[in-house]
Amino acid sequence: MTRPTTQVDTVVVVDEHTFRPWIAADVPFLWDMLHLALFVPVGAEPLPRSVLDEPKVAHYLRSFGERTGDDAQVCEGSDGPVGAAWCRKLDSTDPGYGYVADEVPELGMAIVGSRRGRGIGRRLLGDLLQRHPAMSLSVDDANTAAVELYRSLGFRPVASAAGSTTMARTQREVPSALLLEQPRPPQTNPDEQDSS
Ligand SMILES: CC(C)(COP(=O)(O)OP(=O)(O)OC[C@H]1O[C@@H](n2cnc3c(N)ncnc32)[C@H](O)[C@@H]1OP(=O)(O)O)[C@@H](O)C(=O)NCCC(=O)NCCS
Repeated sequence: MTRPTTQVDTVVVVDEHTFRPWIAADVPFLWDMLHLALFVPVGAEPLPRSVLDEPKVAHYLRSFGERTGDDAQVCEGSDGPVGAAWCRKLDSTDPGYGYVADEVPELGMAIVGSRRGRGIGRRLLGDLLQRHPAMSLSVDDANTAAVELYRSLGFRPVASAAGSTTMARTQREVPSALLLEQPRPPQTNPDEQDSS
């Protein structure tokens, strides 16, 4: 059967990590990731877990799955979920920090500390962007890793205030070259090169 070209692979395994759309059982993990996604400067104490009850934070995930457009992509390792990217539409009556328009979902994402810097965030966000090409977000200007990731996947700054920047992405398609690791040429040992 030929699948529609807009459909992405449901489950993809890369380097023993599985990338898949969320299921209801992921919701507690998504809350953990929302907590991690709240930026604290290097060396500062993490925010108390109770911050998740604050309305301006809780609305990113409360009753997740009940609103049209709620969606998430999850990465699992052999020891359980290790990261997630999710999106939700928050309208002008209750905008998120990264609000740009009612119809543009806001992104949240985080990877557990021990699995960062391995391409998991890029893959998760790339997968989610294939389902929701237009998204927006708010990022702390000191969060260099996140800013660089968003920039490289086509997000652009649209507003800035108090050390945070709202970034948005409106492209209809994600250039695949930006999403997936490019195949690397085989390493050649100069000593083994054929000199003939
Ligand atoms: C931001 C975050 C999601 C990135 O996930 P990740 O899996 O570590 O990122 P990846 O390994 O896929 O790297 C993707 C890109 O991010 C950027 N990046 C990642 N780590 C970086 C670092 N330490 N310094 C600078 N840029 C970095 C690079 O542009 C990188 O692209 P490259 O691989 O081509 O160099 C992760 O660092 C994280 O969970 N941070 C804490 C939570 C958070 O800040 N969430 C976002 C809130 S707005």
